[in-house]
Amino acid sequence: NRWTKVIGTGGYLPPIIRTNDDISSMVDTSDSWIYERTGIKSRRIAGPEETASSMAEIAARQAIDMAGIAATDIDMIIVATGTPERVYPSTACLLQERLGIKHAVGFDIQAACSGSVYGLSIADQYIKTGFANNVLVVGSEICSRIVDWSDRSTCILFGDGAGAILLTAGTEPGILSTHIHSDGGYEDLLYCPNPQVAAEAKQHELAFISMRGNEVFKVAVNTLGRIVDETLAANGLQQSDIDWLVPHQANTRIIAATAKKLGMSMDQVILTLENQGNTSSASVLLAFNEGVRDGRIQGGQTVLMEAFGAGFTWGSVLLRY
Ligand code: ACO
Repeated sequence: NRWTKVIGTGGYLPPIIRTNDDISSMVDTSDSWIYERTGIKSRRIAGPEETASSMAEIAARQAIDMAGIAATDIDMIIVATGTPERVYPSTACLLQERLGIKHAVGFDIQAACSGSVYGLSIADQYIKTGFANNVLVVGSEICSRIVDWSDRSTCILFGDGAGAILLTAGTEPGILSTHIHSDGGYEDLLYCPNPQVAAEAKQHELAFISMRGNEVFKVAVNTLGRIVDETLAANGLQQSDIDWLVPHQANTRIIAATAKKLGMSMDQVILTLENQGNTSSASVLLAFNEGVRDGRIQGGQTVLMEAFGAGFTWGSVLLRY
């Protein structure tokens, strides 16, 4: 049997910190409102010189170093981003050049906050079929550039960062299963227009994330409950078989609802949003990297990753680390 194994992880957070108090001086909000409703205290903001591919490179190099392989051994690069610096070339191609990899295939995927879970699912298919041996999956986001900093309902939520994971083919599990879904019927609840459309219309509000947060919240909680059931059933597992929940970091209350569904205490959840906010497609990989590097996630443990985002898109990855 051919399995997909994790051999490296990496993460990058830009140095600029924007606290809730900083945001309170920009819009009518407060640290206590933001923290109580979301669990967020601060988020990182990319500097003017940074791009999705420059941040991706830092996270990717960490994953490559941990894996102890040469960058040129990578034969597929998948980047999930909603904030690419170019419409084309893809961020994956820009990253490929930065890493000096000549022979590989690179492409981007767009699944909003579910991007890295989609990326892991795609990588797993290519590894299992033997098409690829070493696949780099990166989520890299500069959400601060598509957030309206005068809209208090969205600007409090998002942050910038990049997370990376390096996967290889092995004879032991590995990724046990992946589950991805979408439903295009919810565009009105959460969308971000193409910047080109906003520029042509000369309408400021068209350039940014638009969200009906309360309605997104309800669908997210229900949908993530279903994906937990689906993932456990597909593997014949019980709640107690899961050692760690590595969720997309949108809101502590959404994460707590998923942990409760799994009968898990919050001590078994890797939480990063307090100081990172919602980094969209980067968040699951940033959290996984943190759990691995600080020693909480150990070899042989079973990890459930899950995400939900615009589309709507949602999915899960169950893996044995
Ligand atoms: N500070 C103070 N008051 C605020 C703020 C703010 N930053 N934002 C909104 N309010 C006010 C509203 O105006 C409203 O006032 P009103 O009752 O007088 O009309 C009140 O607070 C309640 O607003 P709600 O939107 O109902 O607040 P809610 O409890 O739902 O919290 C939040 C908002 C935090 C956005 C929450 O709905 C949420 O986290 N939603 C899910 C977000 C998410 O998961 N998105 C998906 C992933 S993102 C992606 O895919 C790109």
